[in-house]
Amino acid sequence: MALVYKADPARGAEWKALLAVKAPDLAVHVWPETGDAANVRYLAAWVPPDDIMGRFPNLELVISTGAGVDQFDLSKLPDHLPLVRMLDPGIVDGMVEYVTLGVLSLHRHLPDYAIAKAEQRWAPIRLVAATQRRIGVLGCGQLGQAVCRRLAAFGFSLAAWSRSPREVDGVTVYMGKASLPAFLARTDILVCLLPLTDETAGILDARMFGQLPKGAGLVNAGRGRHLVQDDLRTALDSGQLSGAVLDVTEPEPLPRGHWLWSHPRVILTPHVASMTQPETAVEFVLETIARHRQGLPLRGLVDRTRGY
Ligand code: NDP
Ligand code: OXD
Repeated sequence: MALVYKADPARGAEWKALLAVKAPDLAVHVWPETGDAANVRYLAAWVPPDDIMGRFPNLELVISTGAGVDQFDLSKLPDHLPLVRMLDPGIVDGMVEYVTLGVLSLHRHLPDYAIAKAEQRWAPIRLVAATQRRIGVLGCGQLGQAVCRRLAAFGFSLAAWSRSPREVDGVTVYMGKASLPAFLARTDILVCLLPLTDETAGILDARMFGQLPKGAGLVNAGRGRHLVQDDLRTALDSGQLSGAVLDVTEPEPLPRGHWLWSHPRVILTPHVASMTQPETAVEFVLETIARHRQGLPLRGLVDRTRGY
């Protein structure tokens, strides 16, 4: 019985070493090595190979090595093959750090001060108390909830948006499309932690920016395709948005010369908000395999009709 790992090879070597100790009966191959394809029961992949079933005829389970699964073409996975997304506490911790960094950067006017520094201009801006700053998080799943809990410690006023009802202490949760205008109207810093689906692609657009208070900020750590880039540029240049912290772009890597590299009100990072941590990820993988073998419900099972 074997598992094939197909993602960052350096972390793959770490997975292999960890699994050799924790699950010596499980053969682990780091792509492009697969061993005898007929023995492969489990595939852990960031970008899956083409023709998964043709390649691994006895595959029983696919695990995304990331929290998102938009890189999988769900229509190509046979119905009987479960797809599970990575529920790694390491991903959550990284995202909490990143969004905190992004929100605090915008809350404390870092784009303005970077512009003033380039112009050698000493230009203090009056401090806004965190209690007066309203943060709105698109997505109230594992990441959105963890981020809200941490931001609450600063005293921010918090809201989140989801498809179904969610309850998080100290957070006003808005549900469904109809509630978006009210959610946006009370949001000074908008954070996107949505999965990329047909419904959420292009959601960060002029319509949405226009419903935020003038001078609002944006943190996008979801996916690059959530954002309509031209609408962001217009909103930044008109002052409708005062700054954007972007971890994800379309395409990735972002080509040299793209306007996002040089816009003074954009802080850009190369899809590093969080990273799956081998130590904790292999624990989740082993738990998932064990539950699958026992016929128990799988945590992180992707619902193909919702797309996440
Ligand atoms: P979850 O599935 O736990 O949460 C997703 C949230 O989005 C849920 O609250 C869900 O609503 C909500 N949602 C989905 N579709 C809609 C919709 N159409 N309308 C309103 N709400 C919607 O995902 P995670 O929190 O684990 O991850 C979110 C995303 O973050 C990932 O899919 C990935 O794209 C991104 N990510 C980025 C990383 C980076 O390094 N930049 C790292 C890890 C993840 P409901 O609660 O009702 O289901
Ligand atoms: C993820 C990511 O989805 O790193 O986990 O983007």
